[in-house]
Amino acid sequence: AEGHGASRSGTVPLGCAIQAEYLDVDPAYRNAAVEYFDLIMPMNELKFGQIRPTRDSWNFEPADRLVEFALSHGRSTRGTCHVWWNSTPEWVDRIETAREAEAALIEHIERVGDRYRGKLIGWDVVNEVIANNPLSEGPLRRTAWLKKLGPRHIPIAFEATARADPDARLVINDYDLEFAGPRYDARREVMLTIVRQLQDRNVAVTGVGIQGHLYADRTIDKDALERFHRTLDGLGVGLLVTELDVIDWESVPGAEPQDATAHRLVADLLDGVFAFQAPESVIVWGVSDRYSWVSDVLPRPDGHPSRPLPLDRDMSPKRWMTLL
Ligand code: XIL
Repeated sequence: AEGHGASRSGTVPLGCAIQAEYLDVDPAYRNAAVEYFDLIMPMNELKFGQIRPTRDSWNFEPADRLVEFALSHGRSTRGTCHVWWNSTPEWVDRIETAREAEAALIEHIERVGDRYRGKLIGWDVVNEVIANNPLSEGPLRRTAWLKKLGPRHIPIAFEATARADPDARLVINDYDLEFAGPRYDARREVMLTIVRQLQDRNVAVTGVGIQGHLYADRTIDKDALERFHRTLDGLGVGLLVTELDVIDWESVPGAEPQDATAHRLVADLLDGVFAFQAPESVIVWGVSDRYSWVSDVLPRPDGHPSRPLPLDRDMSPKRWMTLL
């Protein structure tokens, strides 16, 4: 691909997540994805709840379209995600027995994995399985899958993904793994424990995804990231940044201070992530400020428009794009 590539090494693919609903209607968005990124992945269209909203319906069309878009432009693509508390459909919630839940999970992963075999470089197999605060709740988030199957839903999901697509990279993905403080230390520790437990059971995991949703009022722990990366490498596991964007809650209004903050945070993250060695990829959670979950879910309290992504609303790159 002739996209930019992360400049730290010149060899790390730079990715973006795109959404089917904007692809056909917004040529500038479509062109920017191809112009600036080496890897283009579906943001939502491969999530369990989107693919199989009811027991009787499989909805592959939007994901097919995005995967085809990436491949037809010579870009690589990847999937997210089979297990996520926020994309588990109602019909799964209503399953009563462990046996039926396990069968449903395996059937889903095998069917989806089979359909995209050879097209996706890999999967975020499970997403956000770590408790929000492991110091008070930990270690795992209380999800429908945990309640029905216990922690073994994690190895079940990894094994099914590998069966359906033996060449797929197998990633465990989570948020709040980047920052300084006891809660974040605890989250990194839980992540390492999960990886070690999978390996103890001979379950393959090839990578840990750190989402990289950065916050203006938090500090990146560069040293902890370097140690984390080194420890994972010692386990034979890679590191990826999977969902980079900046949630700007500073009370400073205006585009320039927001972009300066974003620049500092992204520079710190990349310093930490690249300190030991280059990651597998760096992926941005969107393309441009025109469309982002941050404006909907975590808007600025002062009402100023969010500027979470490396391309502006008019698709011009911000200064921090040059860091990537
Ligand atoms: C978000 C998408 O950006 C939204 O479009 C969608 O409505 C909900 O999901 N952490 C994750 C992502 O792991 O999957 C989430 O993506 C953002 C937070």
